[in-house]
Amino acid sequence: DQNTFQAIISHCKEYGFVFPSSEIYDGLSAVYDYGQYGAQLKKNIRDYWWKSMTQLHENIVGIDAAIFMHPTTWKASGHVDSFSDPMIDNKDSKKRYRVDHLIENYADTLPAAEGTALVAQMEDLLKENDYDGLKALIEERKIACGVSGTVNWTDIRQFNLMFSTQLGSVTDEASEIYLRPETAQGIFVNFLNVQKTGRMKVPFGIAQTGKAFRNEIVARQFIFRMREFEQMEMQFFVRPGTQKEWYEYWKETRLKWHLSLGIDPAKYRFHDHVKLAHYADAAVDIEFEFPIGFKEVEGIHSRTDFDLTQHQLFSKKKLQYFDTEINQNYVPYVIETSIGLDRMFLLTVCAAYQEQDLSTPEKADSRVVMKLPPQLAPMKLAVFPLTKKDGLPEIAQEIMDECKQYFHCFYEEKDAIGKRYRRQDAIGTPFCVTVDHQTKEDHTVTIRYRDSMEQERIHVSAVRDHVLKATTF
Ligand code: GAP
Repeated sequence: DQNTFQAIISHCKEYGFVFPSSEIYDGLSAVYDYGQYGAQLKKNIRDYWWKSMTQLHENIVGIDAAIFMHPTTWKASGHVDSFSDPMIDNKDSKKRYRVDHLIENYADTLPAAEGTALVAQMEDLLKENDYDGLKALIEERKIACGVSGTVNWTDIRQFNLMFSTQLGSVTDEASEIYLRPETAQGIFVNFLNVQKTGRMKVPFGIAQTGKAFRNEIVARQFIFRMREFEQMEMQFFVRPGTQKEWYEYWKETRLKWHLSLGIDPAKYRFHDHVKLAHYADAAVDIEFEFPIGFKEVEGIHSRTDFDLTQHQLFSKKKLQYFDTEINQNYVPYVIETSIGLDRMFLLTVCAAYQEQDLSTPEKADSRVVMKLPPQLAPMKLAVFPLTKKDGLPEIAQEIMDECKQYFHCFYEEKDAIGKRYRRQDAIGTPFCVTVDHQTKEDHTVTIRYRDSMEQERIHVSAVRDHVLKATTF
């Protein structure tokens, strides 16, 4: 529900995960900055994806293409002509809305069956490009976006989502270029470079993570839909005719990746696309149940030979592969897996966030804990000396020195131990160790587990491996 979602947004801000961009100037709509813990959590998710896609698949390699690309790229890919959405403006408030978001948000307020029927009706009209029909639907339902009474809508028109800028100084021959709206095209244009220099044999994949930009028209969705975001994409090049089996393979493999993080499988579902893009012969979304409902996190698309063929046409360069097994030249077919890093971040945080009531008959108590997968947690270990004296900080510092080479550790000597534990719970640190007077006698410390809050004593020399074992991937 919205309350939980708002609580998560506040928590992300209060604990240094996500801030509105340029907040001292009142922020920038649908643009966000990652703070000290957020940046580390995001990096850990990216690394986890990168390792599982490249290191664990011998036939997938990674690249890092530029954000700026030759403008013809976006003509070839179809983005110049058709990467647009139908929009409608409120004439009085001058606010602009994406028609599908407007209707979907309204559908969410209806009883489930009625909402689904409305969305289906909308999809039919979108497929037909029936803008009059869509506007009539908005007016008939009196969709008002928080405004009371009837809204004075403009007609619906297309609005391209790409940001553009000028390459070169204005006095030079300036040419308009785009900020990439997806990372995928950087992979397609490098298909031959990688295939040749890496002596890759079909089937093989190219993976990439990086920023993408879309001029989204958004309504209060935090980092779910942003104007500047990061994608993690992989294009898998296959022999024509084998795309169906590879599509199934990647569908299962990607779901397994999500489940390997220990997140409740009941929160995931597949959503097959009925309405396919003109270049796709199959497409499915992996959806997650966010507090605001089931929403897309990742797409797996069977893109046929559309992209490579288009780039072949526009660049007049052959983008083909000679398959020695069947003695044939062909343009490979492509299965794409595409996940938003920020959306995966939001998923991870939503799945981890818990408000727990710890009250006993004697005392009211509660805590907020982020049960992040230990592999992804920004801090792996917190080290606390029980007091600031008697040589305890020195021992704690030795543990820090021993461990910080291997993983992120947090040191704190202020406040009562209970308070220090709660602060680590709030940022999702899976382990805390406390150095006390007994440590000086027998070289043991108390290790405290985030999820169970249980404690046990272990030898100082065992701390590092204990944490490494649970957090390495
Ligand atoms: N190359 C295919 C492609 O870009 P997409 O469905 O447009 O497909 C893929 O995007 C993924 O990127 C989505 O599933 C989502 O996780 C993420 N994504 C797309 N637009 C986004 C936005 N405005 N903000 C955050 N993430 C976004």
